[in-house]
Amino acid sequence: PYVVTENCIKCKYTDCVEVCPVDCFYEGDNMLVIQPDECIDCGVCEPECPAEAIIPDTEPEAEKWLEFNREYSEKWPNLTRKKDAPADADEFKGVSGKFEKFFK
Ligand code: SF4
Ligand code: F3S
Repeated sequence: PYVVTENCIKCKYTDCVEVCPVDCFYEGDNMLVIQPDECIDCGVCEPECPAEAIIPDTEPEAEKWLEFNREYSEKWPNLTRKKDAPADADEFKGVSGKFEKFFK
């Protein structure tokens, strides 16, 4: 499957949701995650994300995100339609350390 990573935090553009054929995105306050068992590995969401937040689980850094995506996809509600990004989304694009700041 593909996974959503730190780059999504506080950006949440939701372009990914619009293209996913199986609606496997789940929404938290600050970011989205992918339910890895529902993801069919089609890859169409990856280039759609303006924040480059989505990567395949074959990437070395994807390992910790896979478990994170699995855990939170079970807690958060399904999101199937694109919605407006946060007003300050662009300010957080590409910023590092967002996980420590907003999840710890
Ligand atoms: Fe959805 Fe395909 Fe992205 Fe998986 S890889 S989350 S199925 S768009
Ligand atoms: Fe997040 Fe990118 Fe989707 S910022 S909500 S993974 S389009």
